[in-house]
Amino acid sequence: MSKTPLSSPPKSMSSTRIITKLTQLLGTSTPIVVPPMAAAAGGALAAQARIAGAFGFIPAGYKSPEWLQSEISLARSLLPPSPSDTILPVGVGYFGWQLDKEEDPSESIPPTLKTALSNSVQAIWFSFGTNLGKWVHLVRKHSPKTIIFILANTVQEGRTAIEEWKADVLVCQGNESGGHGLSSSPPLSAFLPSILPFSSTTPILAAGGLATGSHIASMLTLGASGAVLGTRFLLTSESFYSPAQRQVLINSDSTSTVRTMAFDIARNTLEFPSGVDGRGIRNETVQDFENGLDPENLNKRYIAGLALGDTARIVVWAGTGVGLMNSVKPAAELIKELHYECVQRLHAGSNMLS
Ligand SMILES: Cc1cc2nc3c(=O)[nH]c(=O)nc-3n(C[C@H](O)[C@H](O)[C@H](O)COP(=O)(O)O)c2cc1C
Repeated sequence: MSKTPLSSPPKSMSSTRIITKLTQLLGTSTPIVVPPMAAAAGGALAAQARIAGAFGFIPAGYKSPEWLQSEISLARSLLPPSPSDTILPVGVGYFGWQLDKEEDPSESIPPTLKTALSNSVQAIWFSFGTNLGKWVHLVRKHSPKTIIFILANTVQEGRTAIEEWKADVLVCQGNESGGHGLSSSPPLSAFLPSILPFSSTTPILAAGGLATGSHIASMLTLGASGAVLGTRFLLTSESFYSPAQRQVLINSDSTSTVRTMAFDIARNTLEFPSGVDGRGIRNETVQDFENGLDPENLNKRYIAGLALGDTARIVVWAGTGVGLMNSVKPAAELIKELHYECVQRLHAGSNMLS
């Protein structure tokens, strides 16, 4: 497999803005979105994404309000100074199931959600819940200007988010995606065109298996208003992935990933809605699971592997595009390169016309 690095962009093309419904809504100059990646990134990645002209989310998944506050404060400290009462140009992403669990009748807003709203973040991202509409309504009530992203795993979920909840942005997550997803999600190339006819105004974003600027250009050409790249941003200086996890990603090819319940069973993270599994790099945990090892022993072996940071055991989430990634770099530099390659591809496409 050839993993050729890009040359550095000449200034004129790298400074070309790409204008879509998404960039107009967010005030960004490139339609690249760095998603919330639970336990894998935080405020530094989201801030650097924004500084480079893209948009990034801090993940609230599995974390406390205190952790979230410190990552939001970190993002604030890295971004150009602005009065503290103005919009903070990063987002925060929530698992719906976790908000359901956090809900307390004595509080009108779950504490992690309150943390984001009290910091005036520009956007909130909801995914993986059976009750997402309720959280959309709550944010609308308390913070009407907050931009709401919904991650959809099927056309039906996407339609509900657009038509009933009036999502501001819809993310179509195809089966190729790294991390959690619905095992029965359609592939992105079928999913995206199936959802586009249901909205003329809502920006629709493509997610799953995207690794290069050419991929982003192809999704824009299909009709997306932006592209979400998760796995690609695990290979940045700002992600929390260990050197060993990064090396696994770099060594992987397009056949290395698998959708499986192995990791959720081994880690005992079974609160995701039914039908949700995760895509990661096949390793001994997956092998044991497929060979029928019982959950208790799967968990014991996982915990032993975790103590050593052993990537033969622990999860390394990754989408199908992982074979196209070969280096770790600062997020801002990566965004510039992806943007430049996307602009080049869009120009090349228009040159085909006579
Ligand atoms: C390590 C990792 C953690 C993730 N965590 C979340 C999360 O907290 N919330 C969420 O909605 N999606 C999460 N995702 C999925 C991303 O939102 C995105 O849709 C996905 O990464 C796109 O596929 P790709 O990884 O092939 O680019 C995660 C993905 C990865 C790789």
